[in-house]
Amino acid sequence: MSVETGDTVIEARDLKTHFKGHTGLISALLGGESETVHALDGVDLHIAKKEIVGIVGESGCGKSTLGMTLVRMHEPTSGNILFNGQDITHLSGGKLKSYRGAAQIIFQDPYSSLNPRLTVDQIIREPLDIHRIGTSAEKTERVAEVLSRVRMPPETYLHRYPSDLSGGQRQRVAIARALVLRPKLIVADEPVSMLDVSIQAGVLELLNVLSKELDLAVLYISHDIATVGYICDRVAVMYLGRVVEEGGSDDVMHTPLHPYTERLMAAVPSVDTSVPRQRVELQGEVPSPTDIPAGCRFAGRCPLAAELCHAVEPELYEPLPNHRVRCHLYLPADNDIPADLARPEFPENR
Ligand SMILES: Nc1ncnc2c1ncn2[C@@H]1O[C@H](COP(=O)(O)OP(=O)(O)OP(=O)(O)O)[C@@H](O)[C@H]1O
Ligand code: SF4
Ligand SMILES: [Mg+2]
Repeated sequence: MSVETGDTVIEARDLKTHFKGHTGLISALLGGESETVHALDGVDLHIAKKEIVGIVGESGCGKSTLGMTLVRMHEPTSGNILFNGQDITHLSGGKLKSYRGAAQIIFQDPYSSLNPRLTVDQIIREPLDIHRIGTSAEKTERVAEVLSRVRMPPETYLHRYPSDLSGGQRQRVAIARALVLRPKLIVADEPVSMLDVSIQAGVLELLNVLSKELDLAVLYISHDIATVGYICDRVAVMYLGRVVEEGGSDDVMHTPLHPYTERLMAAVPSVDTSVPRQRVELQGEVPSPTDIPAGCRFAGRCPLAAELCHAVEPELYEPLPNHRVRCHLYLPADNDIPADLARPEFPENR
């Protein structure tokens, strides 16, 4: 999908969210020095209206931190967030409350995210009460409208409780609740990972249709790369708090450029990479986000790592149109990196 600049809903610029914390209970009890967790460590990303951008990467790479920072549930440490061109990085008070209405998040667990003592009507109406929107009649109309949008006839579901609903129906109610304030950005953090596989596609298809019908920008976070390919226009691959590859979802999934992405995709049987190459395995552990290595963050696990990789962190290069990668294999010819550092080279079988 081509995106006009004026269509951009949300934009992150060199966004960082660091947490202060102890690495363990014993360190905390002994009053040891707290460490800095570089959970989100310099991310640039934009999402346009009607666009779904997928975020993938191993556990702990900062996907949820990115989502929660964009909706301002976490305070960014530095960088900027622009919403419809306005800088909202440091909003507070009433303006922050109003932004939170426009930027909603849906979590993975539809069992714990809905209050079991409230009816579907009360659950969806609650945000309107909190934000003091509409008369009683207008609220009733809006609740019915969003229930219809998530394909749940209001007359059947308004007075039911979460315990009367299936997992898929609960997640639809969670989506309706997120929609009732008429947001422009939805962060969906693993929204189907706790649902039965047979109903996942229906919920994803709904998110896809809603993004187009309601001009929504959607950030879709998932471990499941196959579902990302199913609904996303673009995909960003994260590693240790940074985006290491970003592009159209077909390009990233079928022609991955970064050695890390290549290994992530090779682990997914349903992803058939179109470039013939040996299937490669992802080995080793992700380094700790409290101790970020110098140079390329993936160097400790990358079989192609060379001297340059350990010394200088790559920028996001754009070797193909609209397909960016943070890897020195794609270092442009006109670079100003010292020539005496050995460069990585493509393997012969590639
Ligand atoms: N509130 C917090 N305080 C301290 N550290 C945190 C906090 N939230 C997240 N982290 C740490 O930040 C890093 C990134 O966490 P995050 O939850 O964003 O990862 P993720 O990619 O969503 O992982 P998963 O796939 O398991 O959901 C992890 O090391 C995590 O332990
Ligand atoms: S920069 Fe070097 S270490 Fe990092 S992914 Fe590319 S080849 Fe591997
Ligand atoms: Mg997460």
